[in-house]
Amino acid sequence: MRVLIANTADDVARIAADNVLEGLANHGAGADPVLGLATGSSPLGLYRELARAVTEGRADFSRATGFALDEYIGIPDTHEQSYRQTLVNEVCQVIGLPAQQLHTPQGMASSLQAIEEAARNYDQGIAAAGGIHVQILGIGSNGHLGFNEPGSALRSRTRVKRLAAKTRQDNARFFDGIEHVPTHCVTQGLGTILEAGRLVLVATGEGKAETIAACVEGPLTASCPGSVLQLHPDAVLVLDEAAAAGLK
Ligand code: F6R
Repeated sequence: MRVLIANTADDVARIAADNVLEGLANHGAGADPVLGLATGSSPLGLYRELARAVTEGRADFSRATGFALDEYIGIPDTHEQSYRQTLVNEVCQVIGLPAQQLHTPQGMASSLQAIEEAARNYDQGIAAAGGIHVQILGIGSNGHLGFNEPGSALRSRTRVKRLAAKTRQDNARFFDGIEHVPTHCVTQGLGTILEAGRLVLVATGEGKAETIAACVEGPLTASCPGSVLQLHPDAVLVLDEAAAAGLK
């Protein structure tokens, strides 16, 4: 695991984007890029920097494939808070990745069984694309990766999960009250995430300091899903000083 600590938010974004491009070159050389995409505030600067790389001719995502990390259950794709819609607005339109090349877990279907089956097929879709070259990640204040909440199996696959109360509270700011935040989601599993060629995780702010310390220096445990980063041979954590403050 490489931990990179930057001074400013702009530096975090630039360093993270450079590590994404380097990861694509190392793990996807000669192939069209396959990116794993996180929503949330942490990677927004990184996506902005990838857009700059496109403008400067250093990157091209017009033939890329994207796989979202997760999706809420029970809100349609067109809902402004669906992760599909968020990624279309905040990533596809920003870096020039065509929306029809973005895959998102299915969060709406006639039955839970259909959602579970689509979740299993999602991992097959990733494999059929040749695997994710670089997975972009944020981390929850409770240590969740994707929506793998504390207690998630370390080798889990894409599946249906219940959202932790803390996560619903954290995400209530995007909805008209916590009662509108979905209770369940579909998320790439920790095992799925670990199969990506490179992981690039961005964390900023003091609210992430405790969980970053646990992920980097604590024991490998399902109680802190982010501790699986320790198992990955090419995981890069890009932090600001505040998020790094708990590291020894
Ligand atoms: C997003 C996701 C989550 C977020 C995490 C951090 O697709 O799966 O794990 O990365 O909740 O969110 P922010 O970046 O908003 O602090």
